[in-house]
Amino acid sequence: LGQESVEVLGRAYACDDYTNVTPKVLAKVGRNLHNQRHHPLWLLKERIKAHFYSAYAGRSGNPLFSAHDNLSPVVTVEQNFDSLLIPPEHPSRKRGDNYYLNRSTMLRAHTSAHQRELVSSGLDAFLLAGDVYRRDEIDASHYPVFHQMEGVRLFSNRQLFCDVADGDELNMFEAAGGRRTPHKQEVHSLEAVKLLEFNLKQTLSGLVRHLFREDLEVRWLDCYFPFTHPSFEMEVRFRGDWMEVLGCGVMEQQLLNSAGVANKVGWAFGLGLERLAMVLYNIPDIRMFWSQDERFLKQFRVDDIHQEIRFQELSKYPPLHNDISFWLPAAGEPAFHANDFYELVRAVAGDLVEEVTLLDDFTHPTSGRRSLCFRLVYRHTERTLSQQEVRAVHHQIQRETETQLGVEGRY
Ligand code: PHE
Repeated sequence: LGQESVEVLGRAYACDDYTNVTPKVLAKVGRNLHNQRHHPLWLLKERIKAHFYSAYAGRSGNPLFSAHDNLSPVVTVEQNFDSLLIPPEHPSRKRGDNYYLNRSTMLRAHTSAHQRELVSSGLDAFLLAGDVYRRDEIDASHYPVFHQMEGVRLFSNRQLFCDVADGDELNMFEAAGGRRTPHKQEVHSLEAVKLLEFNLKQTLSGLVRHLFREDLEVRWLDCYFPFTHPSFEMEVRFRGDWMEVLGCGVMEQQLLNSAGVANKVGWAFGLGLERLAMVLYNIPDIRMFWSQDERFLKQFRVDDIHQEIRFQELSKYPPLHNDISFWLPAAGEPAFHANDFYELVRAVAGDLVEEVTLLDDFTHPTSGRRSLCFRLVYRHTERTLSQQEVRAVHHQIQRETETQLGVEGRY
């Protein structure tokens, strides 16, 4: 790049031979789709939070899980990899797969990058939503920026065995000399791991049942992550196909020890919010989450986050453009407000008009009169509009703008 430093969220980072962030991806940092009210990713995040708040309460009725969604996506390489026991030569560290600001700093590749810091800060149960960055091509299901929700829950010996008869006699840790097997870590007792695994799987199947409002089929596959063991992937059966929605597992004890909680055990999961939202709302293309298209966004604007969304795919029928220009009322007459014009367009054309933009704002040099020109984009969601029917609607908009808003058409 030849630059000396890159600026991200108001801070400068010195470049080196590892720097590979691009202006395009940096433009996405700070967009925080997951924090944008009524965005589908925000809606999904809120639904997950609401479920955890109501399903898991502490002894005084307080929510057990705290939720976090404002941690900076700029993390150290140590947080993103080393803190999670990912070895120095692990392929996931490749420059080709990540966005490095320099050798020591990067855009997080997963929300797991914050596990250790949040556990060290004293949290026992938390959810963490955030934007994550991975170098990838762009197609219907891949985008270099996406969003994840991380969940972690820790248990003390008493908390883990509290529902087991004579649980006080059980120990979550095995005496020195324990062995790592496909089912457990060397330091864990098998009964501890089985309870953790059961709790983790119940929690996650409960979550997807809640989100999908039905008893959908779930299956678990064994898999591998350096920071959990045993590790699992959850798949849900959707329209006949098995879809992977998350990774999870029993947290590596070494991670918890390094976070200062050697006396607890825990589970963690990480789910892809876009992936889940695409299945849940039937969104065919991951790029749509970045769209500013009203036709997309307005479908998620519900008063109550529990309201059902019936997503209508956006029309691919061609648009028709028509411009409208008029002189504004002279001084002394009621002033013109663009919002009144938008309102009028909506009233006359309804959903036929997809977009209204101000093309030109002109003040006559001698008379001082001001004229505006707006472009209206007409598009029907279910068929191709004819020039003729658009012209009729457009004329009506012209007439009513003149009579209702006191402007003088320039046609
Ligand atoms: N961070 C993992 C990923 O991005 C998911 C994960 C999170 C797995 C927590 C296990 C525990 O693929």
